[in-house]
Amino acid sequence: MIIPVSLRDESYNIVLLRGALNNLNKYFNLNRRVLVVTDTGVPSEYLRTVLSQCENGYSVSIEEGEKSKSFDNYKTLLSILVKKGFTRTDCIIALGGGVCGDIAGFVASTYMRGIDFYNIPTTYLSQVDSSVGGKTAIDFCGIKNIVGAFYQPKCVVIDPEVLKTLDKRQLSAGIAESIKMAATFDSELFELILNTDDFLRDADVIIEKSLKIKRDVVEKDVKEKDLRKVLNFGHTVGHAIESETKLLHGECVGLGMIPMSEGEAREKIVCALKKYGLPTEVDMDPDTLVSYVNHDKKASGDEITVIYCKEIGAYEMRKIRTEDIKDYLNGGIRE
Ligand SMILES: NC(=O)c1ccc[n+]([C@@H]2O[C@H](COP(=O)([O-])OP(=O)(O)OC[C@H]3O[C@@H](n4cnc5c(N)ncnc54)[C@H](O)[C@@H]3O)[C@@H](O)[C@H]2O)c1
Repeated sequence: MIIPVSLRDESYNIVLLRGALNNLNKYFNLNRRVLVVTDTGVPSEYLRTVLSQCENGYSVSIEEGEKSKSFDNYKTLLSILVKKGFTRTDCIIALGGGVCGDIAGFVASTYMRGIDFYNIPTTYLSQVDSSVGGKTAIDFCGIKNIVGAFYQPKCVVIDPEVLKTLDKRQLSAGIAESIKMAATFDSELFELILNTDDFLRDADVIIEKSLKIKRDVVEKDVKEKDLRKVLNFGHTVGHAIESETKLLHGECVGLGMIPMSEGEAREKIVCALKKYGLPTEVDMDPDTLVSYVNHDKKASGDEITVIYCKEIGAYEMRKIRTEDIKDYLNGGIRE
C-alpha cells in the first residue's frame, strides 16, 4: 500500500508493506553513496538487509536511547559524510525509531544545505507518528528537540514485520499514539484497537488509518500553526508527567488523555490503555504538574489550548487557564 503525502513544495510516498525492507530498490534510489544511521538496539539483521541492497553503503550505529540525539552525534555523523566524500546527490537512511529518524533527518537537512533523506521507522511510535510531519531535531542544553528543522523525507518505508522484535513496552507506548488519534478522529479505528485479539496481525490496518489521520492534518498545516494542535490530545498533561517521571512518552500521553475526556469516552480510553498494559494512574502533585504546564512551550501567558474528547471520534479545542488544569485532574470540567 502506498500512502501519498502531498505538501506544498515537497510530496513523498509512504510505502506500508510487509517484507518491503527486502525490496528497498523499488522505492529508494540506492545507486549512490548511502549512509545508514541506526542504533545499537535495532536488530543487526535489519541493517544487514539494508546494506546488502546498497552498492556503496556505509553505516553508523549510535547508542540506543534519547541521549543519542546529541550535538556530539550530530557532529560525528556530519564528519563521516565529509570523510566519505558524500556529495549533494548522495543520501541518508534512518533505520530505527524516532531517535534515529530525528537525528538522521536533521543531519540530512543541513549537510550541504540538504541531501536526500529516506526513513525506515522500526518502532510502532515512529511508524505512526514520526514518519509524517517532517520534524527533525536533536536535543541541546538539556532541552528536547530544541535544535531542528522541518525537512521532508524523499520516501518512507514501513515494514510492519519489524515490530515482531520490538519490546512489548515500546510497542504499547506507540499504540497510545494510535489510541490518541482514534479517540479524536475515528471511532471505528478506536473499536478495532479496543477489540482486536491480535494487534500485530491487524497492525497494517491500524497503522494505515492512524497515518492517514496524521497525514490529513499535516497536509493542512505543514508548519504546525494551528490545526496541528489537534494532534496534541493528551500532550499538555502528558508532557508534564514526562518531565517528572521516567515513563515513556506514549505512556505519558495516555495518562494525559484521561483528564481531557469525559463520560463514556473516558471509560473507553481507560479501557484501551489498560488493554495494552499502559498506566492509567500516576502519583504526581497537581501544583507541580501545573508548574510544568506553565513552562510548556505551547502555553502562551497563563493560557493554553487543550484538546478535549467528549465522544470517541470527535474533539474540541479549548483555551483554558493553566491553573484550571487542576480542576480537570480532579475529575474533569464539563462544558
Ligand atoms: N519527528 C517526529 O515527528 C517525532 C514524533 C514523535 C516522536 N519523536 C521522537 O522520537 C523519539 C522516540 O522514538 P521511539 O519511541 O521510536 O524510540 P527509540 O527510537 O528510542 O526506540 C526505542 C527502542 O527500540 C529499539 N528498536 C527500534 N526498532 C526496533 C525493532 N524493530 N526491534 C527491536 N528494537 C527496536 C531502539 O533501539 C530503542 O532502544 C523521541 O526522541 C521523540 O522526540 C519524533
